Amino acid sequence: MPYTDVIGAGREATPARTAVPRRLLMCRPSHYDVYYSINPWMQPEKPVDTGLALLQWERLRELYTSLGHTVEVIEPVPGLPDMVFAANGATVVDGKVLAARFRHMERTAEGPAYLSWFRRNGYQELLWPEFINEGEGDYLPVGRRILAGTGFRTDQRSHHEAQEFFGLPVTSLTLVNPRHYHLDTALSVLSDTEIMYWPEAFTPGSRAVLRELYPDALLATEQDAAVFGLNAFSDGYNVLLPQAASGLIEQLKARGFNPVGVDLSELLLAGGSVKCCTLELRDH
Ligand code: ARG
Repeated sequence: MPYTDVIGAGREATPARTAVPRRLLMCRPSHYDVYYSINPWMQPEKPVDTGLALLQWERLRELYTSLGHTVEVIEPVPGLPDMVFAANGATVVDGKVLAARFRHMERTAEGPAYLSWFRRNGYQELLWPEFINEGEGDYLPVGRRILAGTGFRTDQRSHHEAQEFFGLPVTSLTLVNPRHYHLDTALSVLSDTEIMYWPEAFTPGSRAVLRELYPDALLATEQDAAVFGLNAFSDGYNVLLPQAASGLIEQLKARGFNPVGVDLSELLLAGGSVKCCTLELRDH
């Protein structure tokens, strides 16, 4: 047996992983439906089963609590069917709240609805922004850096506004595939230093930036990206993601994570899944 095998060369070192409990904000899909289309997933002629969406959403919420996370809920507003996608409601870092300003008029009322939840819940540093941004749909904090998407929804000028507001470096990334219109549909944060993403969703320049910053990132296949496998939530150990993303599930296991497959098929009809339904309240 060659010496290298004896010392274990060639085997991936898997770091010990610990789950860190999070505080999350979610919105029950009581008024969920698809009667307008603002992304290629949304086909108003296809029927939506709101009862099933509610069940799938409840299961996700229970899963979070069973894993030790705290889930707050915001009251859903009639006439705002996409409000279930809480990730778009704001971006919260160090207890500061950057409110969302939506691109499409169908969703504009969600911004003030989420902002008033933060006001009522004691948040003091709030910014009603000058530029369009769709919350954590396009802003993903990784440790002390914020990755920021643009191309479809969030205005690139918002990235500078976010950097000044949070006082953290914001890295702009440009999306090119309309089925991956938000950053959180093409990239997901696994820990303070690790991400996974689908390179083809980005411009060549943005791909190069991601390679530079995260040379060891987990790369998704087209198939896993297409089932929204990257619309995932990680607490540092447990990674909740669409169960159809079987390739990603294997890759995550190999890296020492605990992937948990979730079925949110009804919400996928509006172009959303696990992460879209989850806004992280980074209070400190
Ligand atoms: N129908 C919604 C939209 O197009 C889906 C939002 C999904 N949310 C997300 N964080 N990617 O705006």
